[in-house]
Amino acid sequence: MNKKMKVAVVGLGFGAEFIPLYNKHPNSECYAICQRNEKHLNEIGELFNIERRYTNFEDILDIKELDAIHIVTPIDCHASMSIASLQAGKHTACTVPMATSVEDCIKIADVRKKSNKTYMMMETAVFSREFFYVKDIIESQKLGKIQFLRGSHQQNMNLPGWPEYWYGFPPMFYATHAISPLLALSEKEVESVVCYGSGKIRKEYSDRYGAPFAVESAHLKLRDSDIVCEVTRSLFDTIRQYRESFDVYGTKLSFEWEQCTGEKCVIFSNYEDANRVEVPDYGHFLPREIAPYTRRGVYDDKEHEHTSFIQGAGHGGSHPHMVHEFVSAILEERESSVDASKAANWTMAGICSHLSAMDDGKRIEIPDSK
Ligand SMILES: NC(=O)c1ccc[n+]([C@@H]2O[C@H](COP(=O)([O-])OP(=O)(O)OC[C@H]3O[C@@H](n4cnc5c(N)ncnc54)[C@H](O)[C@@H]3O)[C@@H](O)[C@H]2O)c1
Repeated sequence: MNKKMKVAVVGLGFGAEFIPLYNKHPNSECYAICQRNEKHLNEIGELFNIERRYTNFEDILDIKELDAIHIVTPIDCHASMSIASLQAGKHTACTVPMATSVEDCIKIADVRKKSNKTYMMMETAVFSREFFYVKDIIESQKLGKIQFLRGSHQQNMNLPGWPEYWYGFPPMFYATHAISPLLALSEKEVESVVCYGSGKIRKEYSDRYGAPFAVESAHLKLRDSDIVCEVTRSLFDTIRQYRESFDVYGTKLSFEWEQCTGEKCVIFSNYEDANRVEVPDYGHFLPREIAPYTRRGVYDDKEHEHTSFIQGAGHGGSHPHMVHEFVSAILEERESSVDASKAANWTMAGICSHLSAMDDGKRIEIPDSK
């Protein structure tokens, strides 16, 4: 296919990392960029040679020839921008989380259906090399029956310098990195959740969102399954080096992974054997132009310039895979692998977990998003 999708990237902090990927992918180009601060907008525009530059999101919606919009703005913009983009007839990708209310998740799924456009929640955790590795083990029947899955995402955001909206943010409102691998690997959706809050964060933070807990830990009951998953999330006043992790326990093998200083994944087999394994990069899934971006480490060769923007190693080499899936889904006129209904279930599992914690562990059913 020679077709090139015209994509606009909105939000140029983390979002700037995707510009070279859309430009190098054989079926897309970064056609326009948008962010509020004009000086930074122009710096990024100059760096990547993008002529169409906008400070106002609504102006992007009016570009007739534009095929798709990739939203990488602060969390409170995700729902309204995704809805506006789909209603303007644009294929829409949005960084996590999809939204911060059950109502908005359901609304995006409804608007997506009416628009008949591709939606994708750009969840890095289900495009990482560790995810591909364990998915392969499960599909080749080496793990046996899955008995249990556990995920965590711990970060200590106490330090100054984060955008203001983060301070006091309810941990489970942004839980998709911990929840999504469990659901994608089990190929199930969450039916109901029970969650407890533990400890307390400082009052100046907890007053902002009325969310007092230092740690929220949930049990997710999966639909049509005997599996219950466990998810732990913390953001403030709890010391832990940054961690994303997922563990999968099977009848033949088990797998544990946590992002921490240089530790490799562990495979457990034959009762008590434990072996650390080097997980490969999965560039061979991708067009050769963007395959090198799955690599670990620093990109200092000329061909992959602008590399200070590429966090391939940081998010498990996931960025080029997400771009490829979004562009391919549009070209093939299909839903993406993280479509609106799935994204809503994953995101609502976190939102409802926080609501359960605030109600002393009351079980909450997840609304149907299909
Ligand atoms: N692993 C991951 O999936 C991952 C990692 C990092 C960040 N994120 C998500 O990416 C998003 C952005 O994070 P960040 O660290 O780049 O934030 P940031 O605050 O550094 O950048 C936000 C960008 O959005 C732009 N923006 C804000 N409001 C806008 C508006 N109304 N119209 C147009 N542009 C607007 C800003 O100008 C800025 O360029 C967050 O929602 C975060 O949750 C996800």
